[in-house]
Amino acid sequence: MEQKEIIKLLNDNFVRELEAAMIYTRNYFIMKDCDPSRVTEAISVDEMRHMWWLADLITKRGGKPTMEHKELDFGGDDLKSMLERQIKLESDGIEIYIQQIENIPDEEVVGVLKHILDEEKRHRKEFRQRLESMKTD
Ligand SMILES: [Fe+2]
Ligand SMILES: [Fe+2]
Repeated sequence: MEQKEIIKLLNDNFVRELEAAMIYTRNYFIMKDCDPSRVTEAISVDEMRHMWWLADLITKRGGKPTMEHKELDFGGDDLKSMLERQIKLESDGIEIYIQQIENIPDEEVVGVLKHILDEEKRHRKEFRQRLESMKTD
């Protein structure tokens, strides 16, 4: 795998983290329930930190972070559909990071991606717990 391709993958990740940060930032303002809103707010900050780590890897390798994100899909205006959308975003990220960790021949990149992967797994768990507690409330 060439350096250029590694930078491209890191940029894809950077854009996905940006999209997640924006979606969570919008959603936590819309959520009326305090607890899922606070959790989503805290996680949006984690996603911004992931952007920072990825941008650092990108620029160290001579690339530039790109901001060209897709149209944002927020899920909806009700808590259930927002949480489902957020769980999907985390699952997509988890799948991509697992693949990249197996395939990218760059120790520093893999180290950072493993750390991000652990956090995405925790995020998904947090969102799933909020979705589950909706069913039991
Ligand atoms: Fe993230
Ligand atoms: Fe996440």
